[in-house]
Amino acid sequence: MTKILMVCLGNICRSPLAEGILQSKLDDKLFKVDSAGTSSYHIGNKPDPRSIAVAKQHGIDITKQQARQFIKQDFIDFDIIYAMDNSNYDNIIALAENDAEKSKVKLILNESFPAKNLDVPDPYYGGDTGFDNVFILLDDACQKISQQLNSLT
Ligand code: 4NP
Repeated sequence: MTKILMVCLGNICRSPLAEGILQSKLDDKLFKVDSAGTSSYHIGNKPDPRSIAVAKQHGIDITKQQARQFIKQDFIDFDIIYAMDNSNYDNIIALAENDAEKSKVKLILNESFPAKNLDVPDPYYGGDTGFDNVFILLDDACQKISQQLNSLT
């Protein structure tokens, strides 16, 4: 079982979408996908209603998700950790104990735009179009991730 963790700041906007989108492209018998936030701001909360809505428009149900904070144990429990932006990346790397843990952490948009180190923009303080844009970016990145992972099975 390959385990993939999606990480943003609040675990209510971007990473819940990334979790739902990637899950929709993989066999759940072979892959586990989860998400977490680097902050404690929204622990226990459902995804933002705007993330729930854009996922639903694309046939993906993320309403069962509950926000949790990233913990050091996640370096042990997961094989690949995708950060949504550079700030998330730096915060995760700061918790790593060794190079093996650091090597699990990647910026998700490098899947679509190799080595460009681009951020998935934080849509929290914007309108609905920000969430549409985030969905498009994450769907493309997750398509590439799923092609790589499925080619290994
Ligand atoms: P996320 O978005 O990191 O994509 O879940 C945010 C959610 C909440 C906050 C910031 C970003 N906040 O400051 O509460």
